[in-house]
Amino acid sequence: MDTIRTDCLVIGAGLAGCSYAHYASRLGMSVTLVCSDELSKGANSQWAQGGIIFDTTVNAEQLKRDIREASGGTSNPEAVDSLVEHGQKVVQSLLLDELDVPFDREESGGLKYTREGGHSDKRIIFAKDLTGRAILTNMHDHVLGLEKVSVMTNTVAVDLLTLSHNSVDPLDKYKPITCIGAYVLDTQSGEIRAIIAKKTILATGGVGQIFRNTTNRNGVVGHGISMAKRLGARVIDLEYIQFHPTTFLKKACPLFLVSEAVRGEGGVLVNAEGDAFMDGQHPMKSLAPRDIVARAIHHELIASGENCVYIDLSLMSSDYIKDRFPSIYRRCLESGVDITKEPIPVAPAAHYCCGGVFTDLDGRSSVANLNAIGETSCTGLHGANRLASTSLLECLVSAKLTAEADCRDLENVRFHLPDVRAWQSPKKKPDEVLIQQDMRLIRSTMWNYVGLIRSSRRLQRARRILLELDQEISDFYSGNRLTRSLVDLRNAVKTALLVVHAAGLNSTSKGSHYIALDDEEIDLPMTLSEELK
Ligand code: SIN
Repeated sequence: MDTIRTDCLVIGAGLAGCSYAHYASRLGMSVTLVCSDELSKGANSQWAQGGIIFDTTVNAEQLKRDIREASGGTSNPEAVDSLVEHGQKVVQSLLLDELDVPFDREESGGLKYTREGGHSDKRIIFAKDLTGRAILTNMHDHVLGLEKVSVMTNTVAVDLLTLSHNSVDPLDKYKPITCIGAYVLDTQSGEIRAIIAKKTILATGGVGQIFRNTTNRNGVVGHGISMAKRLGARVIDLEYIQFHPTTFLKKACPLFLVSEAVRGEGGVLVNAEGDAFMDGQHPMKSLAPRDIVARAIHHELIASGENCVYIDLSLMSSDYIKDRFPSIYRRCLESGVDITKEPIPVAPAAHYCCGGVFTDLDGRSSVANLNAIGETSCTGLHGANRLASTSLLECLVSAKLTAEADCRDLENVRFHLPDVRAWQSPKKKPDEVLIQQDMRLIRSTMWNYVGLIRSSRRLQRARRILLELDQEISDFYSGNRLTRSLVDLRNAVKTALLVVHAAGLNSTSKGSHYIALDDEEIDLPMTLSEELK
């Protein structure tokens, strides 16, 4: 078996993973960055539309209050302080000075600012409605040019390596659980190799694709969370799955995110009658925190029997819409909706995992030498519900602090990195139809029973279905040659079970976790799901 040795193995090449690679290489560490696709399409960050908070020092206390309030008072104050303290510096030095990301600017040259849900101020910088893409395009070019970074594309991590489980030295089984890298699959050749590393950094994004309707790209099924849990790492807050209130929803058309910035610039949520139903629900109306807006839409749909609500853009001129939201405008038009003339049909979809692999503020998980950053990690920053436009900022801050902590460790700690046993893989080709059907079942189970409104009965039903699937998938996994879709499936069912488990343990409705009382009317508007397709 081919083995690679490196200081830092980074799994995932979104903003968090790439930023870590940048900071770690600057600090003199060698980095192997694995990416499940080509670099240009391999990340959720790429799809981020809205923007990133800048100017965290202006009204810092107000920003902290907004984060806390969006979370329903549950966010970890130390994590909030750290984000606000480091946020401005990382945006300035990495995104503005080093990468020169083309954020929108005033004629005077100053940055333009926008607002999103839960923000009491205009403090978000943006690049039209493709902020993530603007940042990552520059970031990927940058990372490819870094001398100490080696990028492996079309490569997925299969399992993490530990001293106690994978070392060829039998005495290593007496060592505490310590991560020493990962087995990875080259999805083009089918070859599996080991990457042995002093530090392993999980940056695989969230879990959105375990739900039928999601803003996340394919394959985002909680790989990092599932792999870390298999090692015994602590995972927390997984019941807090944020549903974005507004994804484009029209029969037989692709579903995609409609940025909160559309409401930040004056779009108003209305029902089919044209009533602004958020008036009276929250002082911030259409721009209330996401959990509140998503649930209000859900109730509106149950009451009306409609499939979707609408964003009314009539306060914006046609030219403004086309210039400010070119991508949303184009994508809606491709689905037959001209948003310069008619409102945007929208409904909620799974968007962001507020929980994840528990880490301290330096990215350290509960397993030695295993780190997690960005959406994969959970420092408690978001508590039960994330404030808009904090995610890209968290990617940058967590990457920087983790790289710095790892560098200190590399200078001070002696690492034991033995050879590892070769991966044993059966030759039999898996049946893709079985894989796709199992994945569909996971996604519909999570959507229908573990969605915006949960109940103990629904969670029990979900658990039963998923446990049976898990057993089936484990057998399938051990009897077949590994493929990317099989790795996705195995991790998806594990992640789904972790979310169900966390939701079942928490009987308090808070933020994005809403658990209905036994006698509460909770009909799910099924029109949000399959029958629209
Ligand atoms: C959006 O543009 O609405 C998404 C941004 C975010 O999730 O923070």
